[in-house]
Amino acid sequence: MRNRLWNTLAIIATISLLAAVVWRYRGLNADDLPVLSPTSNVAQSPSLASPYVAEGRCAECHAEQAEDYQSSGHANTFHATAESEVARWLAGQTFDDPERPYSYEYHFDEATGLSVSIPKQFGDDRFQLPYLLGSGHHALTFLSLVSDRLGDTTGVEHRVSLYRNNDGWDLDLTPGHRAQVPQQEVEHFGKVLRGDKLTSCVSCHTTQGEIVRQQIENLTPNVGCQNCHGPGRQHVAAMENDKQDEYMGFTQQSAREEVEVCGRCHRLAHSESGAEVSPNDIRNVRFQSVGLLQTRCFTESEGRLRCTTCHDPHRKVSGDVNHYVDRCSSCHRKPDFTSCPVSPQTNCIECHMPAIDIHRGIKFHDHWIRVRSDLGEAITTQTGDE
Ligand code: HEC
Ligand code: HEC
Ligand code: HEC
Ligand code: HEC
Ligand code: HEC
Ligand code: HEC
Ligand code: HEC
Repeated sequence: MRNRLWNTLAIIATISLLAAVVWRYRGLNADDLPVLSPTSNVAQSPSLASPYVAEGRCAECHAEQAEDYQSSGHANTFHATAESEVARWLAGQTFDDPERPYSYEYHFDEATGLSVSIPKQFGDDRFQLPYLLGSGHHALTFLSLVSDRLGDTTGVEHRVSLYRNNDGWDLDLTPGHRAQVPQQEVEHFGKVLRGDKLTSCVSCHTTQGEIVRQQIENLTPNVGCQNCHGPGRQHVAAMENDKQDEYMGFTQQSAREEVEVCGRCHRLAHSESGAEVSPNDIRNVRFQSVGLLQTRCFTESEGRLRCTTCHDPHRKVSGDVNHYVDRCSSCHRKPDFTSCPVSPQTNCIECHMPAIDIHRGIKFHDHWIRVRSDLGEAITTQTGDE
């Protein structure tokens, strides 16, 4: 029984040095996904050298963006668990599953990292938790890579996540894990992810990396410069040689194209299979790009509204309401556009982009900017600051 568990799971937690071999010329940024840079398309032609440079290279010439970026959520989306503070915090903690007759126990040691056991089900057997996703602003979720019976790689999203509370963390079920009945041993630990579900989980949270067996090779964690701007080798070489024609340009980018770059991860309607694009669909609150593409502010402003109208992609999201009100007011004044009959100068966000509870008190701002019939209700779900 135990042996079978080990054989089926065959968890490898250490990243082998062999991973240094450049395995493929392109990372996990799926080939068909847009990046901001037109020059990145050149990287389609096979080449032995990786089209990426070390992320630190960008800082040599773009110190300002690189410094701002450190505080943004994008700089913190993917970690090796062993290097995180929470691994030590979790050691010795237990979590009683609210739906199953057992508890999870967490273990940490320097040599093997963080692992979890289910003593009532599998005795001392331990399941490794090598990767941690999220900045922890709201939540953190573990990802493991295991080998299935056929030797193919399977991802496991751990059943238990960490949720930020006022002075630390709560443990609770990961969103989407309620009412799951384990069909195989590994499902006691979490949900099995295969194919696109697994690769996109990694590619939305990293800049580069390829799942090879139970490891991620050529890993550049987090949503780095070259995720949005595309691979930078040609740009760096050109700039070093004073050639000005290899911009990591985005200036030619239309508003829609830019929203689609962000929408690769913040979602676009067609990536939500079959989902009706409806203002009443709660998922569209979480998926900012889906909502924004529908609002009349976008469709009737002739390309003047984009994500970067309100957000500096290199900085932590601003919590200053007046910053956003200024953005609204830059359009909503006469004679070009209508102004608000109710409140022409203040508080636009709480009435037209309210924060809505998605899961366990985690709130997102509805980017489908509109006059709302549910105004009263929306205002009561508003937190104020975040
Ligand atoms: C050797 C210096 C150098 C390095 C290294 C470098 N850049 Fe640049 N980059 C420049 C110069 C010079 C420009 C021209 C525009 C300017 O003056 O900022 C530029 C322009 C850009 C632009 C377009 C700005 C605009 O206004 O159109 C982006 C985006 C950019 N770089 C991103 C990157 C990224 C991402 C990296 C890392 C992969 C990187 N750069 C590495 C020198 C460099
Ligand atoms: C299509 C791209 C995409 C995929 C696939 C994806 N994520 Fe995310 N993830 C995001 C974006 C964008 C956010 C930030 C906005 C949000 O929370 O919806 C996020 C946020 C998170 C957060 C919360 C971070 C915080 O503290 O706010 C966690 C945890 C997380 N993802 C884990 C995962 C795991 C685990 C998987 C795979 C099973 C996964 N994600 C798959 C794009 C993605
Ligand atoms: C989440 C996507 C994203 C990431 C990550 C990102 N950028 Fe940008 N960057 C953009 C967008 C979008 C613009 C255009 C901004 C605008 O139009 O206001 C931009 C603009 C720039 C510019 C032009 C000057 C400016 O600030 O507008 C430079 C230079 C630049 N980025 C460098 C970097 C570097 C260096 C990093 C990594 C430290 C980085 N970017 C990370 C999306 C990103
Ligand atoms: C490769 C996937 C990816 C792309 C592309 C991307 N994001 Fe994100 N974004 C994420 C993830 C993952 C998070 C969650 C970060 C965390 O864990 O807190 C996030 C968080 C954010 C946040 C809130 C967190 C914070 O404090 O900074 C904003 C705002 C945001 N993204 C805007 C943008 C914009 C604007 C663009 C396009 C210019 C963009 N993103 C492109 C994956 C992406
Ligand atoms: C780039 C310009 C632009 C920006 C920025 C902008 N809007 Fe708009 N918005 C428009 C246009 C154009 C319309 C169509 C009606 C009109 O001409 O005023 C519109 C329509 C609206 C409507 C009516 C929508 C409906 O479905 O009836 C509301 C409400 C609104 N905007 C609120 C806001 C708020 C709040 C902000 C800031 C968070 C904002 N807008 C930012 C251009 C903009
Ligand atoms: C008209 C202004 C505006 C535009 C355009 C805009 N946002 Fe936002 N966004 C906001 C406001 C306001 C908040 C709430 C900030 C706070 O926490 O106080 C926000 C918050 C966010 C957050 C944090 C989670 C949340 O929903 O509270 C993410 C992620 C985000 N925006 C992504 C995007 C992306 C991606 C785009 C482009 C598709 C975009 N935003 C365009 C105004 C805007
Ligand atoms: C207290 C809630 C509230 C606040 C705050 C508020 N609005 Fe409104 N807004 C409304 C309501 C309700 C309507 C619909 C009024 C009607 O149809 O008579 C409206 C309508 C609008 C319209 C559509 C006008 C038209 O003629 O079609 C725009 C544009 C708008 N608001 C923009 C804004 C902007 C920009 C701000 C911030 C400067 C703002 N609103 C602040 C509640 C609010």
